[in-house]
Amino acid sequence: MLTDRFARHFTYLRLSLTERCNFRCNYCLPDGNDCDLGADDLTLGEIRRLVTAFARQGTRKVRLTGGEPALRRDLCDIIALCKTTPGIEQVALTSNGYNLKKSLSGWQQAGLDALNISVDSLDPAIFSRITGADRLHDILSGIDQALTMNFHKIKLNSVLLRQHNGQSLPAFLRFIRDRPLSLRFIELMRTNDNTRFYQQQHLSGDSIRQQLLADGWQLQPRSDTDGPALEYAHPDYAGRIGLIMPYSKDFCSSCNRLRVSSQAELFLCLFAEQHQSFRHLLQSDDSRAVEDFLQQAIVGKKESHFLHQQNSGQTRHLAMIGG
Ligand code: GTP
Ligand code: 5AD
Ligand code: SF4
Repeated sequence: MLTDRFARHFTYLRLSLTERCNFRCNYCLPDGNDCDLGADDLTLGEIRRLVTAFARQGTRKVRLTGGEPALRRDLCDIIALCKTTPGIEQVALTSNGYNLKKSLSGWQQAGLDALNISVDSLDPAIFSRITGADRLHDILSGIDQALTMNFHKIKLNSVLLRQHNGQSLPAFLRFIRDRPLSLRFIELMRTNDNTRFYQQQHLSGDSIRQQLLADGWQLQPRSDTDGPALEYAHPDYAGRIGLIMPYSKDFCSSCNRLRVSSQAELFLCLFAEQHQSFRHLLQSDDSRAVEDFLQQAIVGKKESHFLHQQNSGQTRHLAMIGG
């Protein structure tokens, strides 16, 4: 079991499969990230050894992230290998949804349990302006198809941006009235690459919280395995609204996740000051060296991130470690 000095248990691995992405979200990768990156992404064999070592140390859930994880041609093999690793109970994927409709059945057959898709606006023009991709219609029909397919959970992510989608709550509420999904508003986080953008666009989730409470939405109880979102439900809506507010007090006290980049660097926090590469330990099938490395590293996890101190650690952009 991986437990830190603050008695937090880490049973959830977020594994970035590539830093490459085919979208250009203005809060994340405005200049793109496709060049030759990817050539050196973790191989299937390295991923198998990595996930095995984490599972032996108590990891029960793996979320595959990026960049855009679906750019990996072997994504279905990766899902299947995670799902069949002894100890792993749930495999989830965070995607921009660009080829969702075509991909869904393969992902499900490979064993995917849960799906998070980024949808920063329901207005096609605003969506293209934020993401650089004119794909909203296809993504939304993919989401409707996913809703017919018995996934354990489907969540949508919308990063709050003052001048782009700051007024989008009514449209999202209409969207989830009859759709049983969780729509999460995420406060924009400051990274090394987006400081000026952050200053212009950051919007607190608090105004949304106030509107929800005024309209009869109720905060749902949280369990230990829940993610960082505070979730609200309303009897007239099939869907839920989540708020991810990393700048709020105590955000990190229930942290249950560790992150590994597509180059096998361990990040103890989304905004860790340091990361450690352990790729060399993934070259042999003996997982003990990786397990020892994880046990030693976990001791260094800090109580909280540094965002409050105008510090963004070493994280250049979240595509680097998958949000
Ligand atoms: P699940 O509980 O597995 O659904 O995870 P999630 O809701 O974190 O999944 P997703 O990949 O959709 O993440 C949504 C966003 O929440 C991330 O991209 C980050 O922006 C933010 N986030 C998730 N975990 C953390 C965290 O530990 N710290 C901070 N600061 N932000 C996080
Ligand atoms: N702040 C908040 N969320 C971000 N994401 C990417 N960059 C940022 C940022 N700077 C989110 C996207 C996507 C997830 C993978 O990461 O919305 O849903
Ligand atoms: Fe790509 Fe995701 Fe970053 Fe958008 S947020 S550019 S979809 S990695």
